[in-house]
Amino acid sequence: MRLFIIATCLAAIAGVLAQPSGASAAGDAARGKKDFLKCAVCHSAAPNTHKTGPSLAGVWGRKAGTVEGFSRYSDTLLNSGVVWNDQTLDAWLQGPRQMVPGTTMTLAPIRDPAERRNIIAYLKQLASDSPEKTAGGQESAPGGGMMGMMGSSELVDISKPTPAQQVTSIRYCRDTYQVTTADGKTLKFWEFNLRFKTDSTANGPPGGKPVLLPAGMMGGDRSFLVFRSPREISGFIEEKC
Ligand code: HEC
Repeated sequence: MRLFIIATCLAAIAGVLAQPSGASAAGDAARGKKDFLKCAVCHSAAPNTHKTGPSLAGVWGRKAGTVEGFSRYSDTLLNSGVVWNDQTLDAWLQGPRQMVPGTTMTLAPIRDPAERRNIIAYLKQLASDSPEKTAGGQESAPGGGMMGMMGSSELVDISKPTPAQQVTSIRYCRDTYQVTTADGKTLKFWEFNLRFKTDSTANGPPGGKPVLLPAGMMGGDRSFLVFRSPREISGFIEEKC
């Protein structure tokens, strides 16, 4: 009897070991959603929301380089002819640059086959979600929390800025910007500590009303000034001492 149990256990272990290390075994999408944190600095799981990389909402089953509205694909990925399925994604997550030399995606290779399978299962699930389920503005990916705050300041919704965020005037004198906000305060920045950005998405600032955001968690002496469009920038700045 005891021997039988041991034999069964051994058979079970052998079964586990014999599982294909590639993509064919089913992954766990719920775990994959957690592992997606690694991707969320650069990718959103919400449709039509692009960051450094394209939205991965409908990527499973598609030809590479065809996510609508993403305009920063590398030529090599565009011309790769790859179609995203279990096998190609499995290779991609082990080394995007080995698979498509010249791609602009940087990723520490994911060596654990189970982790790759789970992420792929999650991507597959995203692709089958109805757009209504994943749309609605909010990130459906785990983009919140610490990672979200550190990695994706550009996804902050600043379409309705507070008076402390809304910039009413910017003055430039010698090496200093003086930024006045709608709450009446004026902050001074060394010119090298103020970064100018644009956000043309629905989450971006209202036209003609740039927004001041602290850069990074530490707050302090660095900030971003976010405009709706590049056209607004220099007209907004008064050079005067
Ligand atoms: C540092 C930023 C970054 C990280 C982290 C990252 N990606 Fe990417 N990803 C990109 C960029 C940029 C591209 C476009 C590459 C190109 O055009 O060559 C891309 C492209 C892709 C594509 C192809 C999309 C298409 O439309 O063909 C897939 C699939 C993908 N990434 C999956 C992932 C997954 C899954 C993770 C997490 C395990 C991840 N990426 C992590 C930046 C990133």
